[in-house]
Amino acid sequence: MCESAVPRFRLVAGLNDLVCVVVIDLLSFRRAGKVWIMLELCTLESDDWPLWRELRLAAFAEAPYAFGSTLAEWQGPGDREERWRARLSIPGAHDLVALLDGLPVGMVSGVPGEEVGNVELISMWVSPGVRGQGVGDYLIEEVERWGTERGATTLRLSVMPDNHQAAALYERHGFTDTGEPGDLLLDGVGRERVMAKSLAVV
Ligand SMILES: CC(C)(COP(=O)(O)OP(=O)(O)OC[C@H]1O[C@@H](n2cnc3c(N)ncnc32)[C@H](O)[C@@H]1OP(=O)(O)O)[C@@H](O)C(=O)NCCC(=O)NCCS
Repeated sequence: MCESAVPRFRLVAGLNDLVCVVVIDLLSFRRAGKVWIMLELCTLESDDWPLWRELRLAAFAEAPYAFGSTLAEWQGPGDREERWRARLSIPGAHDLVALLDGLPVGMVSGVPGEEVGNVELISMWVSPGVRGQGVGDYLIEEVERWGTERGATTLRLSVMPDNHQAAALYERHGFTDTGEPGDLLLDGVGRERVMAKSLAVV
Protein backbone atom coordinates (compact mmCIF):
# COMPACT_ATOMS: atom_id res chain seq x y z
CA MET A 1 0.00 0.00 0.00
CA CYS A 2 1.44 3.39 -0.84
CA GLU A 3 0.48 6.81 0.43
CA SER A 4 -0.44 8.22 -2.96
CA ALA A 5 -3.04 5.48 -3.48
CA VAL A 6 -4.73 6.40 -0.19
CA PRO A 7 -4.46 10.16 0.03
CA ARG A 8 -6.76 10.58 3.02
CA PHE A 9 -4.59 8.25 5.10
CA ARG A 10 -1.19 8.77 6.66
CA LEU A 11 1.26 5.89 6.69
CA VAL A 12 2.85 5.19 10.03
CA ALA A 13 5.23 2.64 11.41
CA GLY A 14 2.91 0.18 13.11
CA LEU A 15 2.98 -2.08 16.11
CA ASN A 16 5.42 -4.99 15.74
CA ASP A 17 6.38 -3.88 12.23
CA LEU A 18 2.79 -4.06 11.00
CA VAL A 19 1.99 -1.87 8.01
CA CYS A 20 -0.68 0.49 9.34
CA VAL A 21 -2.57 3.56 8.25
CA VAL A 22 -4.14 6.01 10.68
CA VAL A 23 -7.81 6.57 9.89
CA ILE A 24 -8.66 8.65 12.93
CA ASP A 25 -6.24 10.80 14.85
CA LEU A 26 -7.16 12.94 17.85
CA LEU A 27 -10.83 12.67 17.05
CA SER A 28 -13.78 11.38 19.00
CA PHE A 29 -15.94 8.61 17.65
CA ARG A 30 -19.43 9.47 16.60
CA ARG A 31 -21.07 7.44 19.36
CA ALA A 32 -20.78 6.74 23.05
CA GLY A 33 -19.08 10.04 23.87
CA LYS A 34 -15.70 8.35 24.19
CA VAL A 35 -12.58 9.96 22.86
CA TRP A 36 -10.02 7.61 21.40
CA ILE A 37 -6.70 9.00 20.34
CA MET A 38 -6.00 6.88 17.28
CA LEU A 39 -7.57 4.20 15.12
CA GLU A 40 -5.20 2.35 12.77
CA LEU A 41 -5.96 -0.24 10.14
CA CYS A 42 -3.06 -2.65 9.67
CA THR A 43 -2.40 -4.99 6.77
CA LEU A 44 -1.29 -8.44 7.85
CA GLU A 45 1.19 -10.80 6.21
CA SER A 46 1.57 -14.49 7.02
CA ASP A 47 4.27 -13.70 9.62
CA ASP A 48 1.60 -11.78 11.56
CA TRP A 49 -0.39 -14.99 12.11
CA PRO A 50 -0.18 -14.86 15.97
CA LEU A 51 -2.14 -11.58 16.02
CA TRP A 52 -4.72 -12.87 13.53
CA ARG A 53 -5.01 -16.10 15.55
CA GLU A 54 -5.58 -14.18 18.80
CA LEU A 55 -8.37 -12.10 17.28
CA ARG A 56 -9.97 -14.91 15.31
CA LEU A 57 -10.13 -17.23 18.33
CA ALA A 58 -11.62 -14.37 20.36
CA ALA A 59 -14.20 -13.81 17.62
CA PHE A 60 -15.19 -17.49 17.48
CA ALA A 61 -15.50 -17.62 21.27
CA GLU A 62 -17.44 -14.37 21.61
CA ALA A 63 -19.72 -14.55 18.55
CA PRO A 64 -20.14 -18.22 17.53
CA TYR A 65 -23.54 -17.33 16.01
CA ALA A 66 -21.86 -15.13 13.39
CA PHE A 67 -19.51 -17.47 11.56
CA GLY A 68 -19.63 -20.56 9.39
CA SER A 69 -16.40 -21.83 11.02
CA THR A 70 -16.29 -22.75 14.68
CA LEU A 71 -13.89 -22.37 17.59
CA ALA A 72 -13.61 -26.16 17.77
CA GLU A 73 -12.36 -26.33 14.18
CA TRP A 74 -9.51 -23.93 14.99
CA GLN A 75 -8.54 -25.24 18.43
CA GLY A 76 -6.58 -28.35 19.43
CA PRO A 77 -5.38 -30.19 16.32
CA GLY A 78 -6.83 -27.41 14.16
CA ASP A 79 -4.71 -24.74 15.86
CA ARG A 80 -1.52 -25.00 13.79
CA GLU A 81 0.91 -22.34 12.67
CA GLU A 82 0.89 -23.50 9.03
CA ARG A 83 -2.90 -23.33 8.97
CA TRP A 84 -2.97 -19.75 10.25
CA ARG A 85 -0.21 -18.82 7.81
CA ALA A 86 -2.20 -20.37 4.96
CA ARG A 87 -5.25 -18.33 5.99
CA LEU A 88 -3.15 -15.17 5.68
CA SER A 89 -1.68 -16.28 2.34
CA ILE A 90 -4.79 -16.33 0.15
CA PRO A 91 -3.53 -14.89 -3.15
CA GLY A 92 -4.67 -11.31 -3.65
CA ALA A 93 -6.32 -11.04 -0.24
CA HIS A 94 -6.35 -7.97 2.03
CA ASP A 95 -6.27 -9.06 5.68
CA LEU A 96 -6.73 -6.27 8.22
CA VAL A 97 -6.79 -5.66 11.93
CA ALA A 98 -7.97 -2.47 13.59
CA LEU A 99 -5.86 -1.04 16.42
CA LEU A 100 -7.50 1.40 18.79
CA ASP A 101 -4.85 3.31 20.70
CA GLY A 102 -2.49 0.46 19.85
CA LEU A 103 -4.77 -2.35 21.01
CA PRO A 104 -6.22 -4.84 18.52
CA VAL A 105 -10.02 -4.50 18.50
CA GLY A 106 -11.26 -5.71 15.12
CA MET A 107 -10.57 -7.65 11.96
CA VAL A 108 -11.79 -8.21 8.43
CA SER A 109 -10.57 -9.65 5.14
CA GLY A 110 -11.20 -8.81 1.53
CA VAL A 111 -10.64 -11.79 -0.73
CA PRO A 112 -10.97 -12.30 -4.49
CA GLY A 113 -14.37 -13.67 -5.47
CA GLU A 114 -15.12 -16.72 -7.55
CA GLU A 115 -16.15 -14.62 -10.53
CA VAL A 116 -14.09 -12.00 -12.31
CA GLY A 117 -14.96 -8.54 -11.00
CA ASN A 118 -16.16 -9.84 -7.64
CA VAL A 119 -14.47 -9.52 -4.28
CA GLU A 120 -15.75 -10.76 -0.94
CA LEU A 121 -15.74 -9.43 2.61
CA ILE A 122 -15.18 -12.15 5.22
CA SER A 123 -14.10 -12.67 8.85
CA MET A 124 -15.59 -9.40 10.13
CA TRP A 125 -15.46 -8.91 13.89
CA VAL A 126 -15.26 -5.98 16.31
CA SER A 127 -14.48 -6.49 19.99
CA PRO A 128 -17.63 -6.05 22.14
CA GLY A 129 -16.06 -3.29 24.25
CA VAL A 130 -15.78 -0.93 21.27
CA ARG A 131 -18.89 -1.85 19.30
CA GLY A 132 -21.28 0.81 18.18
CA GLN A 133 -18.52 3.36 17.72
CA GLY A 134 -17.87 3.07 14.00
CA VAL A 135 -14.94 0.62 13.88
CA GLY A 136 -17.04 -1.66 11.65
CA ASP A 137 -17.66 1.25 9.30
CA TYR A 138 -13.95 1.85 8.83
CA LEU A 139 -13.26 -1.85 8.25
CA ILE A 140 -15.94 -2.06 5.55
CA GLU A 141 -14.79 1.17 3.91
CA GLU A 142 -11.22 -0.10 3.72
CA VAL A 143 -12.31 -3.37 2.07
CA GLU A 144 -14.37 -1.32 -0.39
CA ARG A 145 -11.37 0.89 -1.11
CA TRP A 146 -9.18 -2.19 -1.66
CA GLY A 147 -11.76 -3.81 -3.94
CA THR A 148 -12.19 -0.67 -6.00
CA GLU A 149 -8.45 -0.22 -6.31
CA ARG A 150 -8.07 -3.73 -7.72
CA GLY A 151 -10.79 -3.05 -10.29
CA ALA A 152 -13.61 -5.07 -8.76
CA THR A 153 -17.16 -3.98 -9.56
CA THR A 154 -19.05 -5.95 -6.89
CA LEU A 155 -18.36 -6.56 -3.20
CA ARG A 156 -20.16 -9.60 -1.80
CA LEU A 157 -20.56 -11.09 1.67
CA SER A 158 -22.52 -13.72 3.53
CA VAL A 159 -24.23 -13.13 6.85
CA MET A 160 -26.17 -15.46 9.12
CA PRO A 161 -29.91 -14.92 8.68
CA ASP A 162 -30.46 -14.00 12.33
CA ASN A 163 -27.43 -11.71 12.65
CA HIS A 164 -29.53 -8.57 12.43
CA GLN A 165 -26.90 -6.23 13.87
CA ALA A 166 -24.35 -7.12 11.19
CA ALA A 167 -26.99 -7.10 8.44
CA ALA A 168 -28.12 -3.62 9.52
CA LEU A 169 -24.54 -2.40 9.33
CA TYR A 170 -24.16 -3.85 5.83
CA GLU A 171 -27.47 -2.34 4.70
CA ARG A 172 -26.34 1.03 5.99
CA HIS A 173 -23.32 0.65 3.70
CA GLY A 174 -25.51 -0.06 0.68
CA PHE A 175 -25.47 -3.87 0.60
CA THR A 176 -28.67 -5.53 -0.57
CA ASP A 177 -29.79 -9.14 -0.74
CA THR A 178 -28.83 -10.92 -3.94
CA GLY A 179 -31.57 -13.54 -3.48
CA GLU A 180 -29.03 -16.30 -4.09
CA PRO A 181 -29.12 -19.30 -1.76
CA GLY A 182 -26.18 -19.01 0.63
CA ASP A 183 -24.25 -21.83 2.26
CA LEU A 184 -26.35 -24.33 4.17
CA LEU A 185 -26.34 -23.85 7.95
CA LEU A 186 -25.42 -26.56 10.44
CA ASP A 187 -29.14 -27.28 11.01
CA GLY A 188 -29.27 -28.49 7.41
CA VAL A 189 -32.25 -26.23 6.69
CA GLY A 190 -31.38 -22.55 6.91
CA ARG A 191 -28.97 -20.79 4.61
CA GLU A 192 -26.64 -17.84 4.91
CA ARG A 193 -27.89 -14.57 3.50
CA VAL A 194 -25.87 -13.37 0.47
CA MET A 195 -25.55 -9.58 0.14
CA ALA A 196 -23.72 -7.45 -2.39
CA LYS A 197 -23.07 -3.86 -3.38
CA SER A 198 -21.67 -2.27 -6.51
CA LEU A 199 -18.30 -0.63 -6.25
CA ALA A 200 -17.53 2.66 -7.92
CA VAL A 201 -15.49 2.32 -11.10
CA VAL A 202 -12.30 4.36 -10.88
C1 LIG B 1 -21.32 -6.54 13.31
C2 LIG B 1 -20.14 -5.81 13.95
C3 LIG B 1 -18.89 -6.13 13.17
C4 LIG B 1 -20.43 -4.30 13.91
O1 LIG B 1 -19.26 -3.61 14.35
P1 LIG B 1 -19.38 -2.16 15.05
O2 LIG B 1 -18.03 -1.57 15.06
O3 LIG B 1 -20.11 -2.26 16.32
O4 LIG B 1 -20.26 -1.39 13.99
P2 LIG B 1 -20.98 -0.02 14.23
O5 LIG B 1 -20.20 0.85 15.16
O6 LIG B 1 -21.27 0.54 12.89
O7 LIG B 1 -22.32 -0.39 15.00
C5 LIG B 1 -23.21 -1.33 14.45
C6 LIG B 1 -24.55 -1.19 15.13
O8 LIG B 1 -24.49 -1.64 16.50
C7 LIG B 1 -25.09 -0.67 17.37
N1 LIG B 1 -24.48 -0.61 18.71
C8 LIG B 1 -24.42 0.48 19.47
N2 LIG B 1 -23.81 0.19 20.62
C9 LIG B 1 -23.49 -1.09 20.59
C10 LIG B 1 -22.85 -1.94 21.52
N3 LIG B 1 -22.41 -1.51 22.69
N4 LIG B 1 -22.67 -3.22 21.17
C11 LIG B 1 -23.09 -3.66 20.01
N5 LIG B 1 -23.70 -2.88 19.07
C12 LIG B 1 -23.91 -1.61 19.37
C13 LIG B 1 -24.84 0.60 16.65
O9 LIG B 1 -25.80 1.54 17.05
C14 LIG B 1 -25.00 0.23 15.18
O10 LIG B 1 -26.32 0.27 14.77
P3 LIG B 1 -26.75 1.17 13.53
O11 LIG B 1 -26.06 0.57 12.32
O12 LIG B 1 -28.22 1.03 13.46
O13 LIG B 1 -26.30 2.55 13.82
C15 LIG B 1 -19.96 -6.22 15.43
O14 LIG B 1 -21.19 -6.05 16.10
C16 LIG B 1 -19.49 -7.66 15.60
O15 LIG B 1 -18.29 -7.93 15.53
N6 LIG B 1 -20.44 -8.60 15.81
C17 LIG B 1 -20.09 -10.01 16.04
C18 LIG B 1 -19.44 -10.64 14.81
C19 LIG B 1 -20.27 -10.46 13.57
O16 LIG B 1 -21.49 -10.45 13.60
N7 LIG B 1 -19.56 -10.37 12.44
C20 LIG B 1 -20.19 -10.22 11.14
C21 LIG B 1 -20.18 -11.55 10.43
S1 LIG B 1 -21.04 -11.44 8.87
